[in-house]
Amino acid sequence: MELHTSRTNGPNPGAAGPKGHWFFGNLLDRRRRPLELYADSTRVYGKTVRFRMGPKTVWLLSNPVDVQLVLHDQAKKFVKGYGYDILEIFLGRGLLTSDGSFWHRQRRLIQPVFHRSNLVGFAQVMQDEADALVLRLRGQVEVDVTTTMLKLTMEIVGKTLFGTNVSDHTSEVSPIISELIEDANRRLLSVVPLPVSVPLPRNLRTRRLIERLDGLMSKMIEERRNQKENDPKDKGIDLLSLLIAATDDQTNERMTDRQLRDEAMTIFVAGHETTANALAWTLILLAQHPEVQTRAREEVQKPNAAPGLFERVLSYEYLGRVIDESMRMYPPAWVVSRQSTEPVALSQTVVHPDEIVAISSWVLHRDPDFWKDPQTFDPERFTADECAKRHKYSYIPFGAGPRQCIGTQFARVELLTVLSTLLRNYRFELSGGSQQKIEPHPLVTLRPRGRVPMKFIPI
Ligand code: HEM
Repeated sequence: MELHTSRTNGPNPGAAGPKGHWFFGNLLDRRRRPLELYADSTRVYGKTVRFRMGPKTVWLLSNPVDVQLVLHDQAKKFVKGYGYDILEIFLGRGLLTSDGSFWHRQRRLIQPVFHRSNLVGFAQVMQDEADALVLRLRGQVEVDVTTTMLKLTMEIVGKTLFGTNVSDHTSEVSPIISELIEDANRRLLSVVPLPVSVPLPRNLRTRRLIERLDGLMSKMIEERRNQKENDPKDKGIDLLSLLIAATDDQTNERMTDRQLRDEAMTIFVAGHETTANALAWTLILLAQHPEVQTRAREEVQKPNAAPGLFERVLSYEYLGRVIDESMRMYPPAWVVSRQSTEPVALSQTVVHPDEIVAISSWVLHRDPDFWKDPQTFDPERFTADECAKRHKYSYIPFGAGPRQCIGTQFARVELLTVLSTLLRNYRFELSGGSQQKIEPHPLVTLRPRGRVPMKFIPI
Protein backbone atom coordinates (compact mmCIF):
# COMPACT_ATOMS: atom_id res chain seq x y z
CA MET A 1 0.00 0.00 0.00
CA GLU A 2 1.26 3.46 -0.85
CA LEU A 3 1.03 5.73 2.14
CA HIS A 4 1.11 9.22 0.63
CA THR A 5 -0.82 12.14 1.91
CA SER A 6 -3.50 13.16 -0.50
CA ARG A 7 -5.55 16.20 0.42
CA THR A 8 -6.72 17.18 -3.02
CA ASN A 9 -8.32 14.10 -4.51
CA GLY A 10 -11.83 15.49 -4.79
CA PRO A 11 -14.06 18.44 -4.04
CA ASN A 12 -13.83 17.90 -0.28
CA PRO A 13 -10.49 18.66 1.38
CA GLY A 14 -10.20 17.71 5.06
CA ALA A 15 -8.49 14.62 6.40
CA ALA A 16 -5.86 12.71 4.46
CA GLY A 17 -5.55 9.15 3.19
CA PRO A 18 -3.39 6.81 1.11
CA LYS A 19 -2.93 7.93 -2.49
CA GLY A 20 -3.42 4.61 -4.25
CA HIS A 21 -3.55 3.84 -7.99
CA TRP A 22 -3.93 6.77 -10.43
CA PHE A 23 -7.16 5.37 -11.86
CA PHE A 24 -8.62 2.92 -9.36
CA GLY A 25 -7.50 4.88 -6.30
CA ASN A 26 -7.61 2.56 -3.26
CA LEU A 27 -10.10 0.16 -4.82
CA LEU A 28 -7.56 -2.57 -5.60
CA ASP A 29 -6.31 -2.66 -2.01
CA ARG A 30 -9.87 -2.48 -0.72
CA ARG A 31 -10.71 -5.61 -2.70
CA ARG A 32 -7.47 -7.52 -2.05
CA ARG A 33 -6.54 -6.73 1.53
CA PRO A 34 -9.22 -4.60 3.18
CA LEU A 35 -8.36 -5.36 6.81
CA GLU A 36 -4.75 -4.25 6.36
CA LEU A 37 -5.75 -1.23 4.26
CA TYR A 38 -8.19 0.00 6.90
CA ALA A 39 -6.06 -0.81 9.96
CA ASP A 40 -2.76 0.51 8.51
CA SER A 41 -4.36 3.69 7.19
CA THR A 42 -5.96 4.43 10.54
CA ARG A 43 -2.58 3.99 12.22
CA VAL A 44 -0.95 6.38 9.75
CA TYR A 45 -3.65 9.00 9.14
CA GLY A 46 -5.76 8.86 12.29
CA LYS A 47 -9.41 8.18 13.01
CA THR A 48 -10.72 9.90 9.87
CA VAL A 49 -9.19 8.54 6.69
CA ARG A 50 -10.12 9.56 3.20
CA PHE A 51 -10.05 7.00 0.38
CA ARG A 52 -10.81 7.18 -3.30
CA MET A 53 -12.53 4.01 -4.48
CA GLY A 54 -12.72 4.50 -8.27
CA PRO A 55 -14.90 7.59 -8.68
CA LYS A 56 -16.22 7.50 -5.11
CA THR A 57 -14.96 9.17 -1.95
CA VAL A 58 -15.07 6.91 1.07
CA TRP A 59 -14.39 8.11 4.63
CA LEU A 60 -13.26 5.52 7.14
CA LEU A 61 -14.41 6.72 10.56
CA SER A 62 -12.95 5.23 13.73
CA ASN A 63 -13.67 7.91 16.31
CA PRO A 64 -16.57 6.60 18.46
CA VAL A 65 -17.96 10.16 18.50
CA ASP A 66 -18.29 10.01 14.69
CA VAL A 67 -19.63 6.45 14.85
CA GLN A 68 -22.39 7.70 17.14
CA LEU A 69 -23.14 10.64 14.84
CA VAL A 70 -23.47 8.47 11.73
CA LEU A 71 -25.24 5.44 13.18
CA HIS A 72 -27.40 7.22 15.72
CA ASP A 73 -27.59 11.01 16.11
CA GLN A 74 -27.55 11.91 12.39
CA ALA A 75 -28.72 8.54 11.03
CA LYS A 76 -31.54 10.19 9.07
CA LYS A 77 -29.01 11.95 6.82
CA PHE A 78 -27.68 8.63 5.49
CA VAL A 79 -28.94 5.74 3.37
CA LYS A 80 -27.41 2.27 3.00
CA GLY A 81 -26.47 2.83 -0.67
CA TYR A 82 -23.27 1.56 -2.27
CA GLY A 83 -22.20 -1.95 -1.20
CA TYR A 84 -25.63 -3.09 -0.08
CA ASP A 85 -26.68 -3.08 -3.76
CA ILE A 86 -24.74 -6.34 -4.26
CA LEU A 87 -26.79 -7.98 -1.52
CA GLU A 88 -29.99 -6.53 -2.92
CA ILE A 89 -29.52 -8.61 -6.09
CA PHE A 90 -30.86 -11.61 -4.25
CA LEU A 91 -32.11 -10.33 -0.89
CA GLY A 92 -34.44 -7.89 -2.60
CA ARG A 93 -35.78 -4.93 -0.65
CA GLY A 94 -35.73 -6.31 2.89
CA LEU A 95 -34.77 -4.81 6.25
CA LEU A 96 -31.03 -4.94 5.62
CA THR A 97 -31.03 -3.17 2.25
CA SER A 98 -34.03 -0.79 2.31
CA ASP A 99 -34.23 2.79 3.57
CA GLY A 100 -36.52 5.62 4.59
CA SER A 101 -40.21 5.25 5.33
CA PHE A 102 -40.40 1.80 3.68
CA TRP A 103 -37.66 0.45 5.97
CA HIS A 104 -39.25 2.17 8.98
CA ARG A 105 -42.63 0.52 8.38
CA GLN A 106 -41.04 -2.89 7.87
CA ARG A 107 -38.96 -2.58 11.03
CA ARG A 108 -42.08 -1.61 13.02
CA LEU A 109 -43.89 -4.66 11.60
CA ILE A 110 -41.07 -7.13 12.17
CA GLN A 111 -39.66 -5.98 15.52
CA PRO A 112 -42.35 -7.82 17.59
CA VAL A 113 -41.47 -11.08 15.79
CA PHE A 114 -38.15 -10.99 17.69
CA HIS A 115 -39.84 -10.34 21.02
CA ARG A 116 -38.60 -12.33 24.01
CA SER A 117 -41.83 -14.36 24.16
CA ASN A 118 -41.06 -15.79 20.68
CA LEU A 119 -37.36 -16.28 21.41
CA VAL A 120 -38.24 -18.63 24.26
CA GLY A 121 -39.77 -21.02 21.67
CA PHE A 122 -36.87 -20.59 19.23
CA ALA A 123 -34.44 -21.49 22.05
CA GLN A 124 -35.89 -25.03 22.01
CA VAL A 125 -35.24 -25.36 18.25
CA MET A 126 -31.67 -24.19 18.84
CA GLN A 127 -31.21 -26.73 21.63
CA ASP A 128 -32.61 -29.59 19.49
CA GLU A 129 -30.25 -28.72 16.63
CA ALA A 130 -27.27 -28.41 19.01
CA ASP A 131 -28.13 -31.86 20.44
CA ALA A 132 -28.33 -33.27 16.89
CA LEU A 133 -24.87 -31.82 16.17
CA VAL A 134 -23.47 -33.51 19.29
CA LEU A 135 -24.68 -36.84 17.87
CA ARG A 136 -23.34 -36.10 14.38
CA LEU A 137 -19.89 -35.35 15.80
CA ARG A 138 -19.64 -38.73 17.53
CA GLY A 139 -17.07 -40.90 15.82
CA GLN A 140 -15.78 -38.16 13.50
CA VAL A 141 -12.01 -37.82 13.68
CA GLU A 142 -12.06 -34.13 12.81
CA VAL A 143 -14.34 -31.63 11.07
CA ASP A 144 -13.90 -28.30 9.33
CA VAL A 145 -15.24 -25.92 11.92
CA THR A 146 -16.52 -23.22 9.52
CA THR A 147 -18.61 -25.49 7.29
CA THR A 148 -19.89 -27.42 10.31
CA MET A 149 -21.11 -24.21 11.94
CA LEU A 150 -22.57 -22.92 8.67
CA LYS A 151 -24.60 -26.10 8.28
CA LEU A 152 -25.80 -25.89 11.87
CA THR A 153 -26.88 -22.24 11.78
CA MET A 154 -28.60 -22.79 8.45
CA GLU A 155 -30.62 -25.63 10.00
CA ILE A 156 -31.49 -23.43 12.96
CA VAL A 157 -32.59 -20.42 10.93
CA GLY A 158 -34.41 -22.70 8.45
CA LYS A 159 -36.40 -24.37 11.23
CA THR A 160 -37.14 -21.17 13.13
CA LEU A 161 -38.09 -19.38 9.91
CA PHE A 162 -40.23 -21.97 8.20
CA GLY A 163 -41.21 -24.25 11.08
CA THR A 164 -41.11 -27.99 10.83
CA ASN A 165 -44.23 -28.24 8.64
CA VAL A 166 -42.69 -26.80 5.50
CA SER A 167 -39.05 -27.45 6.27
CA ASP A 168 -38.84 -30.09 3.52
CA HIS A 169 -38.04 -27.27 1.12
CA THR A 170 -35.29 -25.89 3.36
CA SER A 171 -32.96 -28.60 2.11
CA GLU A 172 -33.53 -27.31 -1.44
CA VAL A 173 -33.25 -23.64 -0.47
CA SER A 174 -30.03 -23.98 1.56
CA PRO A 175 -27.60 -24.90 -1.24
CA ILE A 176 -29.02 -22.19 -3.51
CA ILE A 177 -28.55 -19.56 -0.83
CA SER A 178 -25.02 -20.82 -0.13
CA GLU A 179 -24.18 -20.46 -3.82
CA LEU A 180 -25.70 -16.98 -3.98
CA ILE A 181 -23.66 -15.88 -0.96
CA GLU A 182 -20.51 -17.15 -2.70
CA ASP A 183 -21.65 -15.25 -5.78
CA ALA A 184 -22.08 -12.05 -3.71
CA ASN A 185 -18.59 -12.59 -2.24
CA ARG A 186 -17.14 -12.88 -5.76
CA ARG A 187 -18.94 -9.74 -6.92
CA LEU A 188 -17.64 -7.89 -3.90
CA LEU A 189 -14.06 -8.86 -4.78
CA SER A 190 -14.25 -8.07 -8.49
CA VAL A 191 -12.77 -4.70 -9.38
CA VAL A 192 -15.47 -3.79 -11.89
CA PRO A 193 -18.61 -5.69 -10.87
CA LEU A 194 -20.89 -5.91 -13.89
CA PRO A 195 -24.63 -5.59 -13.29
CA VAL A 196 -26.45 -8.90 -13.14
CA SER A 197 -28.49 -7.84 -16.21
CA VAL A 198 -25.40 -8.23 -18.48
CA PRO A 199 -25.92 -11.66 -20.14
CA LEU A 200 -22.61 -13.27 -19.13
CA PRO A 201 -22.65 -17.00 -18.26
CA ARG A 202 -22.08 -16.27 -14.56
CA ASN A 203 -24.87 -13.67 -14.50
CA LEU A 204 -27.24 -16.05 -16.26
CA ARG A 205 -26.51 -18.67 -13.61
CA THR A 206 -27.13 -16.11 -10.84
CA ARG A 207 -30.45 -15.17 -12.44
CA ARG A 208 -31.49 -18.82 -12.75
CA LEU A 209 -30.63 -19.43 -9.08
CA ILE A 210 -32.65 -16.40 -8.00
CA GLU A 211 -35.63 -17.59 -10.09
CA ARG A 212 -35.49 -21.04 -8.49
CA LEU A 213 -35.20 -19.52 -5.06
CA ASP A 214 -38.14 -17.20 -5.70
CA GLY A 215 -40.23 -20.17 -6.84
CA LEU A 216 -39.42 -22.18 -3.70
CA MET A 217 -39.99 -19.25 -1.38
CA SER A 218 -43.39 -18.49 -2.97
CA LYS A 219 -44.36 -22.15 -2.52
CA MET A 220 -43.40 -22.09 1.14
CA ILE A 221 -45.18 -18.83 1.85
CA GLU A 222 -48.36 -20.09 0.15
CA GLU A 223 -48.18 -23.46 1.89
CA ARG A 224 -47.72 -21.90 5.32
CA ARG A 225 -50.49 -19.37 4.71
CA ASN A 226 -52.91 -22.17 3.64
CA GLN A 227 -52.01 -24.27 6.65
CA LYS A 228 -52.78 -21.35 8.94
CA GLU A 229 -56.08 -20.56 7.22
CA ASN A 230 -57.24 -24.19 7.19
CA ASP A 231 -56.27 -24.87 10.77
CA PRO A 232 -57.06 -22.00 13.11
CA LYS A 233 -55.59 -24.08 15.94
CA ASP A 234 -52.19 -24.01 14.22
CA LYS A 235 -50.22 -21.93 16.70
CA GLY A 236 -46.89 -22.50 14.93
CA ILE A 237 -44.50 -19.82 16.06
CA ASP A 238 -42.11 -20.05 13.14
CA LEU A 239 -40.82 -16.68 11.94
CA LEU A 240 -42.65 -16.99 8.62
CA SER A 241 -46.05 -17.40 10.33
CA LEU A 242 -45.27 -14.42 12.51
CA LEU A 243 -44.27 -12.38 9.45
CA ILE A 244 -47.47 -13.44 7.61
CA ALA A 245 -49.57 -12.39 10.62
CA ALA A 246 -47.66 -9.16 11.34
CA THR A 247 -50.06 -6.21 11.07
CA ASP A 248 -49.11 -2.54 11.01
CA ASP A 249 -50.78 -1.08 14.08
CA GLN A 250 -51.15 2.30 12.38
CA THR A 251 -52.52 1.25 8.97
CA ASN A 252 -53.72 -2.31 9.71
CA GLU A 253 -51.84 -3.47 6.60
CA ARG A 254 -50.02 -6.76 6.19
CA MET A 255 -47.00 -7.57 4.04
CA THR A 256 -47.40 -8.49 0.37
CA ASP A 257 -45.98 -11.83 -0.83
CA ARG A 258 -43.03 -9.99 -2.39
CA GLN A 259 -42.24 -8.28 0.91
CA LEU A 260 -42.58 -11.58 2.75
CA ARG A 261 -40.16 -13.18 0.31
CA ASP A 262 -37.60 -10.40 0.68
CA GLU A 263 -37.81 -10.31 4.48
CA ALA A 264 -37.68 -14.10 4.83
CA MET A 265 -34.65 -14.23 2.54
CA THR A 266 -32.97 -11.38 4.46
CA ILE A 267 -33.48 -13.13 7.80
CA PHE A 268 -32.30 -16.44 6.34
CA VAL A 269 -29.06 -14.93 5.07
CA ALA A 270 -28.37 -12.29 7.77
CA GLY A 271 -29.31 -14.81 10.43
CA HIS A 272 -26.94 -17.65 9.62
CA GLU A 273 -23.68 -16.43 8.02
CA THR A 274 -22.84 -14.05 10.86
CA THR A 275 -23.79 -16.45 13.63
CA ALA A 276 -21.83 -19.30 12.00
CA ASN A 277 -18.72 -17.14 11.90
CA ALA A 278 -19.15 -16.03 15.51
CA LEU A 279 -19.43 -19.70 16.52
CA ALA A 280 -16.44 -20.76 14.44
CA TRP A 281 -14.20 -17.98 15.81
CA THR A 282 -15.27 -18.64 19.40
CA LEU A 283 -14.52 -22.36 19.05
CA ILE A 284 -11.12 -21.52 17.55
CA LEU A 285 -10.31 -19.11 20.40
CA LEU A 286 -11.44 -21.65 23.00
CA ALA A 287 -9.22 -24.28 21.37
CA GLN A 288 -6.30 -21.84 21.39
CA HIS A 289 -6.90 -21.00 25.08
CA PRO A 290 -7.54 -24.28 26.91
CA GLU A 291 -7.67 -22.55 30.33
CA VAL A 292 -10.58 -20.37 29.14
CA GLN A 293 -12.25 -23.45 27.66
CA THR A 294 -12.00 -25.25 31.02
CA ARG A 295 -13.45 -22.30 32.92
CA ALA A 296 -16.34 -21.92 30.46
CA ARG A 297 -17.06 -25.68 30.72
CA GLU A 298 -17.10 -25.51 34.52
CA GLU A 299 -19.68 -22.74 34.35
CA VAL A 300 -22.09 -24.65 32.07
CA GLN A 301 -21.69 -27.89 34.05
CA LYS A 302 -22.72 -26.29 37.36
CA PRO A 303 -26.24 -27.04 38.64
CA ASN A 304 -28.46 -24.19 37.47
CA ALA A 305 -31.74 -23.12 39.05
CA ALA A 306 -33.01 -21.14 36.03
CA PRO A 307 -36.70 -21.91 35.28
CA GLY A 308 -36.22 -22.72 31.56
CA LEU A 309 -33.79 -23.19 28.72
CA PHE A 310 -33.90 -19.53 27.67
CA GLU A 311 -33.19 -18.19 31.15
CA ARG A 312 -30.53 -20.86 31.71
CA VAL A 313 -28.38 -19.99 28.70
CA LEU A 314 -28.66 -16.27 29.41
CA SER A 315 -27.32 -16.90 32.92
CA TYR A 316 -23.94 -18.10 31.56
CA GLU A 317 -22.09 -14.93 32.45
CA TYR A 318 -18.51 -16.08 31.74
CA LEU A 319 -19.41 -17.74 28.45
CA GLY A 320 -21.19 -14.51 27.52
CA ARG A 321 -17.94 -12.61 28.09
CA VAL A 322 -16.03 -15.15 25.97
CA ILE A 323 -18.48 -14.52 23.12
CA ASP A 324 -18.18 -10.73 23.51
CA GLU A 325 -14.40 -10.97 23.37
CA SER A 326 -14.54 -13.29 20.37
CA MET A 327 -16.72 -10.78 18.49
CA ARG A 328 -14.34 -8.00 19.51
CA MET A 329 -11.39 -9.76 17.90
CA TYR A 330 -13.29 -11.22 14.96
CA PRO A 331 -16.48 -9.21 14.40
CA PRO A 332 -18.51 -11.27 11.88
CA ALA A 333 -19.96 -8.12 10.27
CA TRP A 334 -16.59 -6.40 10.13
CA VAL A 335 -17.64 -3.24 8.27
CA VAL A 336 -20.85 -1.29 7.72
CA SER A 337 -21.26 1.64 5.40
CA ARG A 338 -23.64 4.47 4.64
CA GLN A 339 -24.07 7.02 1.86
CA SER A 340 -24.82 10.59 2.88
CA THR A 341 -27.84 12.41 1.47
CA GLU A 342 -26.86 15.87 2.76
CA PRO A 343 -23.76 17.55 4.22
CA VAL A 344 -22.87 16.16 7.64
CA ALA A 345 -20.30 17.79 9.93
CA LEU A 346 -18.15 15.22 11.73
CA SER A 347 -15.25 15.65 14.17
CA GLN A 348 -12.57 16.04 11.46
CA THR A 349 -14.42 16.70 8.22
CA VAL A 350 -17.67 17.45 6.45
CA VAL A 351 -19.13 14.55 4.49
CA HIS A 352 -20.84 15.73 1.31
CA PRO A 353 -23.91 14.25 -0.37
CA ASP A 354 -23.29 10.89 -2.09
CA GLU A 355 -20.00 10.33 -0.29
CA ILE A 356 -19.64 7.05 1.56
CA VAL A 357 -18.73 6.55 5.18
CA ALA A 358 -17.37 3.20 6.31
CA ILE A 359 -17.25 2.12 9.93
CA SER A 360 -15.18 -0.97 10.59
CA SER A 361 -15.66 -2.88 13.82
CA TRP A 362 -12.41 -4.67 12.91
CA VAL A 363 -10.54 -1.35 13.26
CA LEU A 364 -12.54 0.02 16.21
CA HIS A 365 -12.27 -3.21 18.20
CA ARG A 366 -8.48 -3.31 17.86
CA ASP A 367 -7.76 0.36 18.52
CA PRO A 368 -5.14 0.57 21.30
CA ASP A 369 -6.72 3.86 22.46
CA PHE A 370 -9.69 1.84 23.73
CA TRP A 371 -8.29 -1.67 24.20
CA LYS A 372 -5.13 -2.53 26.12
CA ASP A 373 -3.08 -5.15 24.19
CA PRO A 374 -5.82 -5.40 21.56
CA GLN A 375 -4.27 -8.48 19.91
CA THR A 376 -4.65 -10.49 23.14
CA PHE A 377 -7.73 -12.62 23.81
CA ASP A 378 -9.04 -11.65 27.25
CA PRO A 379 -12.71 -12.15 28.24
CA GLU A 380 -12.11 -10.04 31.38
CA ARG A 381 -12.47 -6.94 29.22
CA PHE A 382 -16.20 -7.54 29.32
CA THR A 383 -16.94 -7.44 33.04
CA ALA A 384 -19.64 -4.83 33.78
CA ASP A 385 -17.02 -2.52 35.37
CA GLU A 386 -14.70 -2.64 32.35
CA CYS A 387 -17.57 -2.07 29.90
CA ALA A 388 -18.72 0.99 31.86
CA LYS A 389 -15.29 2.60 31.36
CA ARG A 390 -15.44 2.49 27.54
CA HIS A 391 -17.22 4.67 25.01
CA LYS A 392 -20.41 2.85 24.05
CA TYR A 393 -19.61 3.18 20.34
CA SER A 394 -16.13 1.64 20.60
CA TYR A 395 -17.70 -1.85 20.54
CA ILE A 396 -20.35 -2.43 17.88
CA PRO A 397 -20.50 -6.09 16.71
CA PHE A 398 -24.24 -5.71 16.04
CA GLY A 399 -24.07 -2.18 14.65
CA ALA A 400 -25.87 0.60 16.51
CA GLY A 401 -28.72 3.08 16.36
CA PRO A 402 -31.99 2.49 14.52
CA ARG A 403 -30.35 0.05 12.08
CA GLN A 404 -28.86 -2.10 14.81
CA CYS A 405 -29.19 -5.84 14.17
CA ILE A 406 -32.77 -6.95 14.78
CA GLY A 407 -31.47 -10.45 15.60
CA THR A 408 -29.07 -9.40 18.40
CA GLN A 409 -30.88 -11.30 21.14
CA PHE A 410 -31.74 -14.22 18.84
CA ALA A 411 -28.04 -14.56 17.99
CA ARG A 412 -26.97 -14.34 21.62
CA VAL A 413 -29.33 -17.12 22.68
CA GLU A 414 -28.16 -19.23 19.72
CA LEU A 415 -24.45 -18.72 20.46
CA LEU A 416 -24.90 -19.50 24.15
CA THR A 417 -27.04 -22.58 23.45
CA VAL A 418 -24.71 -24.12 20.87
CA LEU A 419 -21.48 -23.36 22.73
CA SER A 420 -22.74 -24.52 26.13
CA THR A 421 -23.99 -27.79 24.59
CA LEU A 422 -20.68 -28.45 22.84
CA LEU A 423 -18.70 -27.56 25.99
CA ARG A 424 -20.75 -30.00 28.05
CA ASN A 425 -20.11 -32.86 25.61
CA TYR A 426 -16.69 -32.26 24.07
CA ARG A 427 -13.23 -30.88 24.60
CA PHE A 428 -12.13 -29.21 21.38
CA GLU A 429 -8.67 -28.87 19.89
CA LEU A 430 -7.33 -27.46 16.64
CA SER A 431 -5.83 -30.33 14.63
CA GLY A 432 -2.79 -28.11 14.02
CA GLY A 433 -2.31 -27.54 17.79
CA SER A 434 -3.29 -24.62 20.05
CA GLN A 435 -0.57 -22.39 18.54
CA GLN A 436 -1.98 -22.77 15.00
CA LYS A 437 -2.59 -19.31 13.58
CA ILE A 438 -5.90 -18.85 11.78
CA GLU A 439 -6.12 -15.87 9.45
CA PRO A 440 -9.37 -13.97 8.87
CA HIS A 441 -10.89 -13.89 5.39
CA PRO A 442 -12.92 -10.71 4.94
CA LEU A 443 -15.78 -11.38 2.55
CA VAL A 444 -19.33 -10.14 3.12
CA THR A 445 -18.66 -11.49 6.61
CA LEU A 446 -15.38 -12.27 8.39
CA ARG A 447 -14.75 -16.00 7.96
CA PRO A 448 -11.71 -17.99 9.07
CA ARG A 449 -9.48 -18.41 6.00
CA GLY A 450 -9.37 -21.89 4.48
CA ARG A 451 -10.25 -25.13 6.20
CA VAL A 452 -9.91 -25.20 9.98
CA PRO A 453 -9.85 -28.87 11.03
CA MET A 454 -10.91 -29.32 14.66
CA LYS A 455 -11.07 -32.41 16.86
CA PHE A 456 -14.06 -32.88 19.17
CA ILE A 457 -13.02 -35.25 21.94
CA PRO A 458 -15.94 -36.69 23.95
CA ILE A 459 -15.85 -35.96 27.67
C1 HEM B 1 -23.47 -12.98 15.64
C2 HEM B 1 -24.49 -12.80 14.84
C3 HEM B 1 -24.85 -11.52 14.17
C4 HEM B 1 -24.08 -10.40 13.93
C5 HEM B 1 -22.62 -10.17 14.31
C6 HEM B 1 -24.92 -9.46 13.22
C7 HEM B 1 -24.51 -8.19 12.83
C8 HEM B 1 -25.34 -7.25 12.25
C9 HEM B 1 -24.98 -5.88 11.97
C10 HEM B 1 -23.61 -5.25 12.25
C11 HEM B 1 -26.05 -5.28 11.43
C12 HEM B 1 -26.14 -3.80 11.01
C13 HEM B 1 -25.81 -3.63 9.55
C14 HEM B 1 -25.71 -2.15 9.18
O1 HEM B 1 -25.73 -1.27 10.03
O2 HEM B 1 -25.60 -1.89 7.98
C15 HEM B 1 -27.11 -6.26 11.32
C16 HEM B 1 -28.35 -6.02 10.78
C17 HEM B 1 -29.32 -6.99 10.65
N1 HEM B 1 -29.29 -8.29 11.13
FE1 HEM B 1 -27.78 -9.12 12.17
N2 HEM B 1 -26.15 -10.03 13.04
C18 HEM B 1 -26.16 -11.27 13.60
C19 HEM B 1 -27.23 -12.15 13.66
C20 HEM B 1 -28.47 -11.94 13.10
C21 HEM B 1 -29.58 -12.85 13.21
C22 HEM B 1 -29.57 -14.16 13.99
C23 HEM B 1 -30.61 -12.31 12.47
C24 HEM B 1 -32.00 -12.83 12.23
C25 HEM B 1 -32.47 -13.98 12.65
C26 HEM B 1 -30.12 -11.05 11.93
C27 HEM B 1 -30.84 -10.20 11.12
C28 HEM B 1 -30.46 -8.92 10.79
C29 HEM B 1 -31.31 -7.99 10.04
C30 HEM B 1 -32.68 -8.30 9.45
C31 HEM B 1 -30.59 -6.78 9.95
C32 HEM B 1 -31.06 -5.48 9.32
C33 HEM B 1 -31.77 -4.64 10.38
C34 HEM B 1 -32.26 -3.29 9.91
O3 HEM B 1 -31.56 -2.60 9.16
O4 HEM B 1 -33.36 -2.91 10.34
N3 HEM B 1 -28.83 -10.85 12.34
N4 HEM B 1 -26.66 -7.46 11.85
